[in-house]
Amino acid sequence: MTATSLLDAIAGVGRDTARGGYSRHGFDTVEMELREWFIAEAFDRGLEVETDRNGNIWAWWGTPGPDAVCTGSHLDSVPGGGAFDGPLGVACALEAVDLLRGQGFQPTRPVAIIVFAEEEGGRFGVPCLGSRLITGAIDPDKARRLTDSDGTTFADAVAKAGFDPARIGADPQALERIGVFVELHVEQGRDLEVPVGVATSILAHGRWRFSFTGEGNHAGTTLLTDRRDPMLPAAQLVLAARQAAASVQGSRATVGRLRPIPGGTNVIASTVDAWLDARSATDAETKAVVADVVARATEAAEAEGVRLTVTEESYGDTVWFDAQLAAQVSQWLGGVPALPTGAGHDAGILAAHVPTAMLFVRNPTGISHAPAEHAEPADCEEGARALATTLAKLAG
Ligand code: GLV
Ligand code: MN
Ligand code: MN
Repeated sequence: MTATSLLDAIAGVGRDTARGGYSRHGFDTVEMELREWFIAEAFDRGLEVETDRNGNIWAWWGTPGPDAVCTGSHLDSVPGGGAFDGPLGVACALEAVDLLRGQGFQPTRPVAIIVFAEEEGGRFGVPCLGSRLITGAIDPDKARRLTDSDGTTFADAVAKAGFDPARIGADPQALERIGVFVELHVEQGRDLEVPVGVATSILAHGRWRFSFTGEGNHAGTTLLTDRRDPMLPAAQLVLAARQAAASVQGSRATVGRLRPIPGGTNVIASTVDAWLDARSATDAETKAVVADVVARATEAAEAEGVRLTVTEESYGDTVWFDAQLAAQVSQWLGGVPALPTGAGHDAGILAAHVPTAMLFVRNPTGISHAPAEHAEPADCEEGARALATTLAKLAG
């Protein structure tokens, strides 16, 4: 079955009629439906399916065990996201198994497709939660306490999905089975001009919550001189993010989410929460951009008599994928280009623990995390073939 036809089968799941695109979030009803879809596809192929204690699904071709050749991605999306970020890697993994079996390939190492939980952090705020948990990169207590926009904790969401929240956390036994991990992903920028490429690195990046607390009041009766309006420094934060990133070559900083409380048109907010996403080539540059933003936001808050608290919600240093493996994969694929990315991935979390590589499939729009994200069916096929070739070389 082609990756495109597999994606077609889930094209109706999780469409967001208000935002456009898809809203598929970790352990919500939509993502649970996608999980069922994946499990059914895996069963159809006779793969042995298990879900680890952090909610990551593993589908095994061969006996589960050490030194496995693993591939996979995720099925959740950002709010109003595209159809390819995540599901393309899962669909190509399924197709790669079909292609290899069609060729009569017999792996000498176990092969597994892994679907990671809550990669985007679209529901609980921390990206790559499934891979962070399994690798011990996040404290399970912190993960259990994360809440979604309705106030549901991650612990409750996990329990509702049928997992024991008390058992989430580092899982060396599961992790040790991965001998090598290769994630295929839609390219998310404008840098790939041929159908397939390999990844070199991921920018250092993280998320910070800025909570501005002022005084809720009436929009009509409160004189400007009497206000402590947290929306003013929040607005300055948005501008500060752009200014700070612009001053450090290659950096990006974004305020993509802002929550005024209580959020009424005729109400001066009492609190505004705003989230900064900052990314740069190095840890030092990222931290410098964030420090600059914090300084500017602090000054703006003080000028308005507003209290500011800044909380780091997630962080990951620059990832350098295994250069030897990347060069080898590129060579196996006929010398495809190698390129860095500004996007985070479960592969980036795993790279600190196991040899890891990524394949990218060309994105003609150069747009991602938005409905216009795209990959042509022919490129998806080339991606699936490239993944099959890579898995065969690794598991042959
Ligand atoms: C995930 O795709 C991210 O880069 O935030
Ligand atoms: Mn993404
Ligand atoms: Mn992704």
